[in-house]
Amino acid sequence: MDDQYIDMFLPPPLGVTQFPGDINYIQKICKELEFQRNSCNSITVDNYLLNKPELIDLKTYIGDFVHRYTRTVFHSNQEIDITQSWVNITDSGEEHPKHQHPNSYMSGVMFVKSCNDSPPLLIENYLRPQYSFVDLYDGGRLDNSDVPPNKYISTNTPIYPVMPVQGNIVLFSSPTPHMVPKNNSKEERITLAFNTYPKRPFGSERDVTYVT
Ligand SMILES: [Fe+2]
Repeated sequence: MDDQYIDMFLPPPLGVTQFPGDINYIQKICKELEFQRNSCNSITVDNYLLNKPELIDLKTYIGDFVHRYTRTVFHSNQEIDITQSWVNITDSGEEHPKHQHPNSYMSGVMFVKSCNDSPPLLIENYLRPQYSFVDLYDGGRLDNSDVPPNKYISTNTPIYPVMPVQGNIVLFSSPTPHMVPKNNSKEERITLAFNTYPKRPFGSERDVTYVT
């Protein structure tokens, strides 16, 4: 048999890069920030953190990464601005419920402080219900025994876990629902998150999608 299996439409991929700068320096700055209670964890009062002069190297690195992603994935040289940026601390026993990032193009998370048993970032396969009306699994749970690693996994699994590797920055499409399950480790988990938006003008006048 010479069957073919052709991927047709896929969500934008997860971008992953490792910040080459000093993560201890970023941790130190994050620890000195003022925090307030979020729904189930803590968030900084300042939500334009990447505008801080002491974080200029990190902002430049993230900005370059977003442009590389846009060129590579969307084949566009459109300039992209970082809009808001903030830090979350998820202490032992805390979590971060499922949410999306409205009014943003791509969103990102930098894992500033984590340990071996810190909870992952869970990304929901939000396209799955549209393609998998017939559920061959028990409540969407995959029987891993029959599935080769990384092969058509996206059609089967409802969740993609991103391991919180310290210093890694991940980039995903902003409408993608994501969450952090309960932190069962003894250590706090610190992340820096950001939103982005295309620099004006963008779009096409001819296609009446132009934004000035
Ligand atoms: Fe988020």
